[in-house]
Formats: sequence, C-alpha cells, structure tokens
Amino acid sequence: MRDEPIDLATALAGFDQLWSPRIVTTVNDYDVRVAKVAGEHVWHVHEHTDEFFLVLDGELRIALRDGTGEREVVLPRGGVFVVPRGVEHRPSAPQGASILMFEPSGTSSVGDRHEAVPEHVDATTGHAL
Ligand code: NI
Repeated sequence: MRDEPIDLATALAGFDQLWSPRIVTTVNDYDVRVAKVAGEHVWHVHEHTDEFFLVLDGELRIALRDGTGEREVVLPRGGVFVVPRGVEHRPSAPQGASILMFEPSGTSSVGDRHEAVPEHVDATTGHAL
C-alpha cells in the first residue's frame, strides 16, 4: 500500500519490458499489477486463484481452454475479464496493449503449470515499480 496517489500513465511510462508485470500497489493480500504486452504470452493455468484483467489501452485477447474446447475473448480498452482458477489461458495482443491485473501477491505470471516459457515472457511474481 502507498500513502500517495499513483498515476497509472506515469507508472507505465517508467518501464518498457513486455510481459513483465509491475506491482502498482497492494490491497490486503492482493497485488494490483500493470503490464505492457505485445504478441503472445504462454499457455498456463493458475490452479488456486482467479485472475482479473482490465485493459487500459489497446486490445487484449485471452485464449481459453476448458472442458468444452478452446475459445478466445477479445477485450477492448476498458474491457474487464476474469479467468477462473484452473482454466488454461494464453493472453495475446497482436497490436500491443497495456493491462491491469488483480491477483493474490505471489501469483506467478506463468501460473502453476505452463508450456515452455519463450524468451520474451518474464516468469515473475511481479516487480516493484
Ligand atoms: Ni494467468
């Protein structure tokens, strides 16, 4: 938690690395994280937590695999989506995007299970701003 307001635009302007979430603040035992993204993330699953996404800029796509097959949700700027725990997902942003995530502190960006993590994806529990 911080005792001064945080400007998200300034926070986002402070780093360039893609798929590398920065922790903006915490709420109880949850992180508010922002990330710049472009291209594809990696298929992964969080076994024990839902994951909240809000698109701050651009368009985010989230491919989902569940018992019934594969689908993709498309989130424009302002779009909100929650990936339920246990559901395999792969975010992507063909044109690039800035996103905000809300999830328990310590949650790995590549989940508890994942495919091979490509070079451009940062496997992290979030970095300080
Ligand atoms: Ni995830």
